[in-house]
Amino acid sequence: MSMLEIKNVHKSFFTYTKPRLQAGIFHRPGARKVTSELQVLRGVDLTVEKGDVVAILGPSGSGKTTLLRCLNFLETADAGQLTFDGETFDLAKASRADIARLRKKTAFVFQSYNLFRNKTALQNVTEGLIIARKMPKEQADAVGMKMLEKVGLADRADYYPRQLSGGQQQRVAIARALASDPEIIYFDEPTSALDPELTGEVLAVMRQLAEEGMTMLVVTHEMGFARNVSSKTVFMENGVVVEQAPSHEFFANPKEERTREFLRKIAHTE
Ligand SMILES: Nc1ncnc2c1ncn2[C@@H]1O[C@H](COP(=O)(O)OP(=O)(O)OP(=O)(O)O)[C@@H](O)[C@H]1O
Ligand SMILES: [Mg+2]
Repeated sequence: MSMLEIKNVHKSFFTYTKPRLQAGIFHRPGARKVTSELQVLRGVDLTVEKGDVVAILGPSGSGKTTLLRCLNFLETADAGQLTFDGETFDLAKASRADIARLRKKTAFVFQSYNLFRNKTALQNVTEGLIIARKMPKEQADAVGMKMLEKVGLADRADYYPRQLSGGQQQRVAIARALASDPEIIYFDEPTSALDPELTGEVLAVMRQLAEEGMTMLVVTHEMGFARNVSSKTVFMENGVVVEQAPSHEFFANPKEERTREFLRKIAHTE
């Protein structure tokens, strides 16, 4: 049985604009007009096995972030099914209890770290343990220190985010994700907000997690990571999965013309 199976995920965004006020013309207050529907996900299927590191590639706007957000209910899909450890959730209408139960097994690392600015590195890591999981502070601190050690930041436990580099902040965010002891971690472009010299330290931590068998779903533009660390690569475009294959196969022998074109373009800009 696969750890995570998602089927037929659909998501559209509607953009509304208020009718412009024109001289002499009165509009009903609050009148809204739907101007367009943007279909961002158009039937995405994906399977993740325990221990898989799945890299999701795709051009800007292809729906990668939206997909990850739907999987963790940060965004409500219009349709779709998610099966995790054999339990199936309806992505369009799961209950709060379902969502809470699923989130206990998952963690999310954002592009922009999302740390609390007024909390130290350690407090950022332990916050969820103390508040959501009701862990006694001493125990949470011990877990937190262990996780900071894992990402190489034990000596920065008492620093505030503004005293840390971007790479260090992202490593704190990874330590926070690890502290909740997740079965899978979703990463959304974890290095794309970083200066090139800082991406290496974050990728090294992710590589170490991969080697330890952590299951990860990683949206990334880092071709080196996709090629050398991930076990499986998925190429998305226009809200659908165009191609997915074991990474060595994906890069050595892409089957779809669109994938080849994407890889050629990337090769030119790297
Ligand atoms: N909350 C929203 N409201 C309206 N449109 C949205 C919203 N979120 C995303 N979109 C649109 O959905 C499309 C897909 O966005 P998404 O962020 O999922 O793309 P992406 O593949 O992650 O792109 P990138 O590589 O630039 O991060 C884009 O056209 C975006 O403008
Ligand atoms: Mg994105």
